[in-house]
Amino acid sequence: MDRNLALEFVRVTEAAALACGRWIGRGDEKSADAAAVETMRSVFDSVDVNGTIVIGEGERDEAPMLYIGEVVGSASGPDIDIACDPLEGTSIVANGGTEALAVIAAAERGKFLHAPDTYMDKIAVGPGAAGVIDIRESPTWNIEKVAAALKKKVEDIVVICLDRPRHQELIREVRESGAMINLISDGDVSGAIATTRKHAGADILLGTGGAPEGVLAAAALRCLGGEIQGRLNFRNDEEKIRAQKMGITDFNKIYAHEELATGPVIFAATGVTRGSFLDGVQFFGSKATSHSIVMRSETGTIREIRSRHIL
Ligand code: FBP
Repeated sequence: MDRNLALEFVRVTEAAALACGRWIGRGDEKSADAAAVETMRSVFDSVDVNGTIVIGEGERDEAPMLYIGEVVGSASGPDIDIACDPLEGTSIVANGGTEALAVIAAAERGKFLHAPDTYMDKIAVGPGAAGVIDIRESPTWNIEKVAAALKKKVEDIVVICLDRPRHQELIREVRESGAMINLISDGDVSGAIATTRKHAGADILLGTGGAPEGVLAAAALRCLGGEIQGRLNFRNDEEKIRAQKMGITDFNKIYAHEELATGPVIFAATGVTRGSFLDGVQFFGSKATSHSIVMRSETGTIREIRSRHIL
């Protein structure tokens, strides 16, 4: 994939982050999300790609923009598929919390799992523990493997996990194993990336979150040398029917990260609110600053970009 696209995608995530950054702490999830979506959609048109949204705001009948199947870009560049979340962490922004991101991943046509809008059971680790995890095994088994790979004691391992009632049993087992736990309110893409960062306080992500977010996390971890495994977790038959329409036949399949995001991928994210690996946007009258990361799996290049913007 054309490497210059990476920097073009940062322009798109920066614009989305700046737009929804105006809604930080205002208690209005809808407006924050709408600002990010509308801005991401319009800036996409200036990028020279013939892009198709495969992970976006939902299906055409429920999302006016960045819906699955929507064609974006100037149409004069390469054919690519796009997975995006203009605002990953709408509640985070509404509450003025941490770790909200504007995110885009791109791959060649047909290389992302067309993940339905359902849940996914996930396990993710950074490069130090890639290759030792197995989603079919228990949390305790995985924690012990990760501890051994990282040459740590189990008591020194931190599990990052969404704070949800559905994780009650998981949280109990993690605590019983002796490991520490970092419960996050939202944002498991950021949680998965945190496992790759030495000082982010997370060694392994466990639990169930959005399936689309699983694909985005896979793209990021492919670039960062980590690993994620996922299994779709359907809430009802309607979700299974939707998944079937998207080409999914085996409902119990375990997806390796190369199956969630295959081949060369680009991942770009801009921090909306402060987080463990990106600062949030900040406004200074008619100026603003942003902090982004952009990575390519082909070369493993990771760029951090701090930008100043005249608004
Ligand atoms: P949104 O920004 O789309 O609200 O997603 C935030 C998020 O926390 C994801 O990071 C996570 O995968 C998903 O929601 C979890 O879903 P739920 O809130 O239903 O548990």
